[in-house]
Amino acid sequence: MLDSNPIPSPEISTVTEVLEQQSDVLVAGLTEEGSLPSTLAAVNGMTEGWLERLVENGEIRGKRGEMTLLASPRDVGPRMILVVGLGAGDLDRNLAFESASTAVRRLADRQRDTVIISLSECFPEEAHDALVTGALSGCEQQAIYQSDPSLLAPEKILFSGVSEGSVQRGRAVGESVNQTRRLVNEPPAVIYPESFTEKAVAIFEGTRVSVEIWDEQRLVAEGCRAMLAVGAGSSKAPRLLILRYEAGGTESPLAVVGKGVTFDSGGLSLKPSEGMVDMKCDMAGAATVVGVMHGIDKLGVKQNVIGYCGLAENMVSGDSYKLGDVIETRSGKTIEILNTDAEGRVVLADTLDVAIQHEPRAMVDLATLTGACMVALGTEVAGLMTNNQDLCNDFQSAAGVEGEPVWQLPMFDLYNEKVKSKVADIKNVGEGRWGGAITAAKFLENFVGDVPWVHIDIAGPAFADGAKPARDAGATGVMVRSLIRWIENSNV
Ligand code: BES
Ligand code: ZN
Ligand code: ZN
Repeated sequence: MLDSNPIPSPEISTVTEVLEQQSDVLVAGLTEEGSLPSTLAAVNGMTEGWLERLVENGEIRGKRGEMTLLASPRDVGPRMILVVGLGAGDLDRNLAFESASTAVRRLADRQRDTVIISLSECFPEEAHDALVTGALSGCEQQAIYQSDPSLLAPEKILFSGVSEGSVQRGRAVGESVNQTRRLVNEPPAVIYPESFTEKAVAIFEGTRVSVEIWDEQRLVAEGCRAMLAVGAGSSKAPRLLILRYEAGGTESPLAVVGKGVTFDSGGLSLKPSEGMVDMKCDMAGAATVVGVMHGIDKLGVKQNVIGYCGLAENMVSGDSYKLGDVIETRSGKTIEILNTDAEGRVVLADTLDVAIQHEPRAMVDLATLTGACMVALGTEVAGLMTNNQDLCNDFQSAAGVEGEPVWQLPMFDLYNEKVKSKVADIKNVGEGRWGGAITAAKFLENFVGDVPWVHIDIAGPAFADGAKPARDAGATGVMVRSLIRWIENSNV
């Protein structure tokens, strides 16, 4: 079996006396306002005003994202100094995350032994963990099958001025984001429904998360005919993965549900190659569920949470589900298939139905569901659709704190008409292209009962065509941070 390079896991710890420590690089911050934070002021003092002169001459301006790598004139301590521009705006968690990840990526051009990140003094304490998360996230890349990758993670990343607790939290979340990204970046020959469940078993071994897998026979027995229909054209059978995190108590759980189409060819409504080329990413919702469950276990969150991954491969064969087919879903509602490429909602119909049987007090689903959501919001913003405004507001504020952009789309009753079928209860496409993200959500709403629910369409932000200074192209791990925060905040 093809084996990818391991997820980078640099040694991470805290450090004091950063200028006396031998290190490859010291990373420090500078805002546009220009006064040197204490780490840089100390270097400046030891070097007869070297850094002050660079600032005065406009060599270093502290512009947001500006990275200036300087060879240290001292013969002890750090050999290089990376000055990270922090701009003139808010010094918030997202800036902390991006500054640390951009710095690590800037230094990834060669193998570094020790990198000391001394950015904490520029940020409020509640943002310190985001430095650790960002640094870890900066280590993961999409070139997981290159024998000689061009990005190299440091051996050790040491943080000054960051508490042990913030390091632990930041590491837990960073590893979770990278876990999600890795699952998404793996090719579809490596990740298919069964192998996805095997990876989950390995990931959760020895944790408090219990893993339940529904194989084909169980799916038949449970009446998950919608999931089975989507997977019918593939030689790889569907699976339902249930991840249970029990914090104790009698409180009903939170449910996190993910679309796990491990490859979306479109089925008989076949996608053209340009549209199919990145469709290994169509299980990003399910991978996000895995990342989130991993994170809450590491953090020991005091909430009962159940994760559900609806896993299927959408392929073409003599057994594929067809246009005009009518499927009786697990819930009993019938759906008419008018486009086999609108398969995510079909998989989720059964997955959501299983989830609501456990009577969650709130449910969030994540899905790379519609190209229409990208038409509406672009590639960097996730779409939110809900049947419960309070819940949606809670999620929105968690995403706001983490700096992950989300935008709510309306769920007016008038859209209900658009998914009505002439032969079945509902059909799996709306009104052509119009309002496609919303009509998809309206379809899903049929399967959530009375449970307060937010649907997050991550078709845009889950997978990136191009790299940015703060992250590589490919899987982004979007919403892992926001969901972990939302779960932590969901104390009733
Ligand atoms: N997986 C796609 C949506 C998608 C597109 C995700 C681009 C990520 C990037 C989904 O299954 C799909 O094909 N949706 C169709 C629905 C249509 C046929 C009603 C779409 O958006 O075109
Ligand atoms: Zn599709
Ligand atoms: Zn899809």
